[in-house]
Amino acid sequence: MNEKLKVKIGNTEFATPVIAASGTFGFGIEYADIVNLDDFGAIVTKGLSLLPKEGNPPPRIVETPCGLINSIGLANPGTDEFIKNYEETYRVFPTHVIVNVGAETENEFLSVIKKIEHMNILGYELNISCPNVETGGMMFSEDPNTAFALVKKVRKATEKLLITKLSPNFCNIRELARASEDAGSDAISLVNTFLGMSIDIETGYSRIGKPFGGFSGPAIKPMALKMVYEAARTVNIPVIGMGGINSGSDAIEFFMAGASMIQVGSAIFRNPQIAFDINNFIEQYLDRKGLSNVSEIIGTFKGSKNE
Ligand SMILES: Cc1cc2nc3c(=O)[nH]c(=O)nc-3n(C[C@H](O)[C@H](O)[C@H](O)COP(=O)(O)O)c2cc1C
Repeated sequence: MNEKLKVKIGNTEFATPVIAASGTFGFGIEYADIVNLDDFGAIVTKGLSLLPKEGNPPPRIVETPCGLINSIGLANPGTDEFIKNYEETYRVFPTHVIVNVGAETENEFLSVIKKIEHMNILGYELNISCPNVETGGMMFSEDPNTAFALVKKVRKATEKLLITKLSPNFCNIRELARASEDAGSDAISLVNTFLGMSIDIETGYSRIGKPFGGFSGPAIKPMALKMVYEAARTVNIPVIGMGGINSGSDAIEFFMAGASMIQVGSAIFRNPQIAFDINNFIEQYLDRKGLSNVSEIIGTFKGSKNE
C-alpha cells in the first residue's frame, strides 16, 4: 500500500483510511474470495450482542431510487458463537478488526466486551443507536447523559481502541459528540442510518418487515457530511465519517469536512472492490495536488466563497 495513504488514530497505524462499515461486510472473512481484505485499513464487524439474535421478519432490505432501507434487527450469532467462529480467523487476519457492539443494556455491552477482550481485535465500535431496555426502550443516543454513562463504563473495561458510533436521528450531534469524547472515546464515527420508510401503494403495507427501517446510501451523503463537519469542529478526537460514500471524491469531501478516516457501507453491495477504487482515487488526487499524505486534506474545507 502507498505510504501516502497511511493514517494514525492514537498509536494505531492504518495502511489506508478506508474502513468497511458495520453490517455491510459480515465478519470480514466472507468477502475474502472476492476482495483483497487489506484494501481496507480496517473492517468493522456486524453488530454483536451477548446472545444470538434472529433479527427482524423479512423483507430486510429494500432499494429506493437513492439508497437502501434496512430492517435487519441486529441478526447475529451472539458472543459465544462469534468467539468460536472467528477467534482463530482473526489471529492471522490481513487487516485490523473492530467489533461493532450493539447491546440493550450497559451490562450487556460490558459482558460482550469482557468475553472478547482476549481476542486479536483492534477495538470496539459502540453502536449506541440500540433501544436501551433499562430506560424503557429509549435509545442510548437519545440523551447525551445516557451515552456518556455508557461510554464511561466501557472505557474503564478496556484499553483497546474505543470508537463511539453516533446516530443522526435523535439529539444534537454536537452534544452527543462531546459526551462521547468526555467519556473517554478514542474516536467517534458517524453517521449510522437515518430512519426511513417505504410503502407499497397496492397493499398499503410497508415494503420492509417493519413499518420503518434504517436509510443509507447516496441520498444521506449531504446530511452525513454536514454532521461530520459539525462533529469535527466540536471534538479534538478523530472523527470517522460515513454516510453515502460511493466514490473517491465522496471520500475526499469527508476528509475536507474534518474526517480522519472514512467508512463505506451500502456501496460495498454494488461494488465490493470499492476500497481499491477509493484508494487509487486518493493516491491520484494527492499526486495531482502535490500532497504527501492523506492527512493533509483533513479539515481543509474553506467554507463559502462569500464569507
Ligand atoms: C444492511 C445494513 C446493516 C447494518 N448493520 C449495522 C450494524 O449492525 N451496526 C451498526 O452500527 N451499523 C449498521 N449499519 C449502518 C452502517 O454501518 C452505516 O452506518 C450506514 O449504512 C451509513 O453508511 P452508508 O450510507 O455508506 O451505507 C448497517 C447498514 C446496512 C445497510
